[in-house]
Amino acid sequence: MGLLVKGGTVVNHDHTNRADVYCDNGKIISVGTDLDVPPGTEEVEAHGCYVMPGGIDPHTHMQLPFMGTVASEDFYTGTSAALVGGTTMIIDFVIPSPQQSLMEAYETWRGWAEKSVADYSFHVAVTWWDESVSADMGTLVKDHGVNSFKHFMAYKNAIMCADDVLVNSFSRCMELGAIPTVHAENGELVFHLQQKLLKQGITGPEAHPLSRPPMVEGEAANRAIRIAGTLGAPVYLVHVSTKDASDAITYARANGQQVYGEVLAGHLLIDDSVYQNKDWATAAAHVMSPPFRPPEHREALWKSLQSGNLQTTATDHCCFCAEQKAAGKDDFTKIPNGTAGVEDRLTVLWDQGVNTGRLSMNDFVAVTSTNTAKIFNMYPRKGSISPGADADIVIWDPKATKTISAKTHLQNIDFNIFEGMNVTGLPVKTISQGELVWSDGKLNVTKGRGRYINRPSYPPVYEILQKRQALNAPKAVERTAQ
Ligand code: URP
Ligand code: ZN
Ligand code: ZN
Repeated sequence: MGLLVKGGTVVNHDHTNRADVYCDNGKIISVGTDLDVPPGTEEVEAHGCYVMPGGIDPHTHMQLPFMGTVASEDFYTGTSAALVGGTTMIIDFVIPSPQQSLMEAYETWRGWAEKSVADYSFHVAVTWWDESVSADMGTLVKDHGVNSFKHFMAYKNAIMCADDVLVNSFSRCMELGAIPTVHAENGELVFHLQQKLLKQGITGPEAHPLSRPPMVEGEAANRAIRIAGTLGAPVYLVHVSTKDASDAITYARANGQQVYGEVLAGHLLIDDSVYQNKDWATAAAHVMSPPFRPPEHREALWKSLQSGNLQTTATDHCCFCAEQKAAGKDDFTKIPNGTAGVEDRLTVLWDQGVNTGRLSMNDFVAVTSTNTAKIFNMYPRKGSISPGADADIVIWDPKATKTISAKTHLQNIDFNIFEGMNVTGLPVKTISQGELVWSDGKLNVTKGRGRYINRPSYPPVYEILQKRQALNAPKAVERTAQ
């Protein structure tokens, strides 16, 4: 049966208008006033509210096996929390161990994700290189709807990629019409600084940001961008946390390079003073990489988001509870890295972005949904309130308020980095695949209703990039025989 969202104001990334939205069979059928809908259509009241594309979080790690433990949030609890927060799709990461086949890891993650209640897709990490990796990348793009590959430049002795892997994999992405993405931190420098701090007897969470200063991110961001630029490939930088990295993106874009940047809600709102907390568990709960930064970086990140040099927002939702964090009680390098946020991203960005005037409502839609859909080739199926799009919708009450707390959130973690924040503007109803799944404080979902979303490669974009490369193609000098 169809569903009519009635009386609200539709906000897309490019326009705002008073309109009702009629959905059927999981799709948006029509948008406008005085819509002709079949008798008996369920009505969803949206007076006084904004009707926006559901959020897409392009960076989550549900039930990730990492640093000797497994993230506490799984695909069922994590996508449930996402829907409560107005996010109707996540893009998670398949992360093969070095030497593990990409296809084997991909099948494992697909199995774990079957319990999802919201739509999902996967970036696949390249953690090592040989011909089988290259072949698996081809299979993933051609047969499994994967159009993005992730590269960790940090986490030495685990999943870190050296430059040879970056070069081989970025080149392969170019052949396949896929986009390389990077976690930009110089893993050698991090390792060196970690050992030095431990030797100096600085073993607590306050050492975490000291081992990963902004320059460490700036160096890796510049390197990834220059490697991509040399190969003529696009590149997407995940969780940009510093002015250093964001300036590198801005510079490259100003010089015609196709570079994209993502920023986390946490990096926009929280600063590095959290690591000075006298309570070890509280400081450790904030250990994630890259770390929270001094306030001047936050301001630079907001400006980059406003100017379009950073295009997407995410959470890097990767939950570890206090007992898991305690593994690093005597050695900060053993504290599992990760924080939560999939439930809170839209709310905190509305409160600190739209309510403060930093972002317009249309910018908000762009950076929480549409730009991700565009960059990862799902637009306008996702990220749009328009006929033919998936009926993934958030109904937003700009006057509703709450105080964020781990005591009341649904996320499967005992800590909330936004604890105590009073926010105005809430997702009061969420529609996923045309079904009203979150309304009046109640979540109504069945396990496994989430769908895997194929993201095809982008031949037209790559044709342009290849033409640009051809403009500068090297030529052998023709010499007369002697
Ligand atoms: O601290 C983090 N971010 N943990 C998850 C893995 C990653 O680097 O994204
Ligand atoms: Zn990362
Ligand atoms: Zn991550």
